[in-house]
Amino acid sequence: SHQEHVSIVEMAPRDGLQNEKQFIATADKIALVDMLSDCGYERIEVTSFVSEKWVPQLADAADVMAGIRRKPGVRYAVLTPNMKGFEAALTAKADEIAIFAAASESFSQHNINCSIAESIDRFRPVAQASREHGIPMRGYVSCVVECPYEGTVPPANAAKATAWLRELGCYEISLGDTIGRGTPEAIGRMLAAVLDEAPAAMLAGHFHDTSGRALENIDVALDLGLRVVDASIGGLGGCPYAPGAKGNVDTMAVARHLAARGFSTGLAEDKLRQAAAFARALRSEP
Ligand code: HMG
Ligand code: MG
Repeated sequence: SHQEHVSIVEMAPRDGLQNEKQFIATADKIALVDMLSDCGYERIEVTSFVSEKWVPQLADAADVMAGIRRKPGVRYAVLTPNMKGFEAALTAKADEIAIFAAASESFSQHNINCSIAESIDRFRPVAQASREHGIPMRGYVSCVVECPYEGTVPPANAAKATAWLRELGCYEISLGDTIGRGTPEAIGRMLAAVLDEAPAAMLAGHFHDTSGRALENIDVALDLGLRVVDASIGGLGGCPYAPGAKGNVDTMAVARHLAARGFSTGLAEDKLRQAAAFARALRSEP
């Protein structure tokens, strides 16, 4: 019978590793991406072209991009907060870039050192350049339901940030439960508001798993028509500007959950298992 496809976007090399205190060797990062390339993903987020003072772990972004083996059919994506990041992404021949905004003012200040409105202005030249160079641009909204500094975030704030990113030309907007404290009820309310601004086909769910409810939150997203989910092999991660937050939901758990619900993901479980073991061995704390 025909299975409906859900695309899992792999986050571990970027969102997973960005928070690791101990510097992980560039060769190990490259080896992780290369293993992931054989798992069947369509998109892998490899690294970030951000300030190395802010995220020292990813200071080797250019070397990682230069060292990976590119598998045809896989898109290798990077985060680019500004034109400096975009230029570096271009030089590194990234297949896709991502800009990242927030639904909460305090998180925006802590994460990218400016207000939400200012961030949108800084993204404008990046959006223009991505269009000129034909590089697809994804957008993130952080803190769509909960903020580590402000608490509960109104659904309207997530909807507004989504509308701005859509206007800037993002082909897809990934909705981040950055600290992983979202309940299925809150995610449902947030999505109801966001769906007024963008169709389900333009949205992705990006759930951290701090409260262990990410799979339930994915179910809410699937029921509302979303077909793209971000996940991290080995459950790697945390955000440097969201204290206490855990990693993205584990890719293996998501792949199994989707299979049980009758969706195809295109991912090979044996390859995922090998990559997960390698990923877990990279982190200093288990
Ligand atoms: P700033 O200090 O306001 O920027 O930081 P600036 O333009 O004044 O530059 C300051 C210094 O950074 C300068 O260097 C720049 O050259 C350098 P100096 O002159 O002092 O030596 N710089 C850069 N270097 C490399 N690449 C660049 C770059 N830009 C400036 N692109 C900035 C603003 C955005 C740069 C900074 O705040 C930053 O890098 N923040 C990092 C944020 C980050 O990576 N956070 C984690 C990812 S987001 C996330 O995890 C959430 C997500 O997963 C979804 C979710 O879960 O919610 C996506
Ligand atoms: Mg994240």
